[in-house]
Amino acid sequence: MSYQAVRDNDCTIDPLAPGDLPEVMEIERCSYSHPWSEAVFLDCFRPDYRLWAFRHGGSLGGYAVVAYLYDEAHLLNLCVAKARRGEGAGRQLLRHLVARATHDGMQQTILEVRVSNSSAVALYESEGFRVIGHRPGYYPAANGREDAKVMALDLSTD
Ligand SMILES: CC(C)(COP(=O)(O)OP(=O)(O)OC[C@H]1O[C@@H](n2cnc3c(N)ncnc32)[C@H](O)[C@@H]1OP(=O)(O)O)[C@@H](O)C(=O)NCCC(=O)NCCS
Repeated sequence: MSYQAVRDNDCTIDPLAPGDLPEVMEIERCSYSHPWSEAVFLDCFRPDYRLWAFRHGGSLGGYAVVAYLYDEAHLLNLCVAKARRGEGAGRQLLRHLVARATHDGMQQTILEVRVSNSSAVALYESEGFRVIGHRPGYYPAANGREDAKVMALDLSTD
């Protein structure tokens, strides 16, 4: 894959590697009520997936997992370590994956987000994503299931 690293001060966004998974799993388990397993991450190292790492001072601060299907980039996971939140890492990762998806010819970025996840929804809306649907009971939750908002960003240039 042709790739140009993004650098901002001491921060870099580059491809996530299987060797990052110990750090990924630590962040993942601290961030979600229902975290992905390591096997799920390992299964994402495929040609039609893009996995991005946000690094700060050499350590992993966050990551994003995107699946390409035809002309659609599906954002499956966007996560920032608790200690690094509120510093712009999530926005940088999101802008990076959107720029790469556009470069790769994708026409749309799509994602699901828990209806209760107001900080993520605010981030997506501030980057131009719009709610295009609702999936009832999409996520497991402590007391049953939780609905998802489906959000999309048009990447087409015409
Ligand atoms: C959602 C998440 C990725 C945001 O990452 P972050 O690095 O903290 O976000 P940023 O610092 O780049 O902030 C970007 C925007 O997100 C929103 N946001 C971030 N934290 C917020 C908070 N605590 N409350 C409300 N809005 C918030 C704001 O709109 C913010 O823009 P602003 O700084 O101009 O107000 C992070 O909170 C996270 O990893 N959460 C756990 C995993 C998760 O829920 N992922 C999304 C799954 S769909």
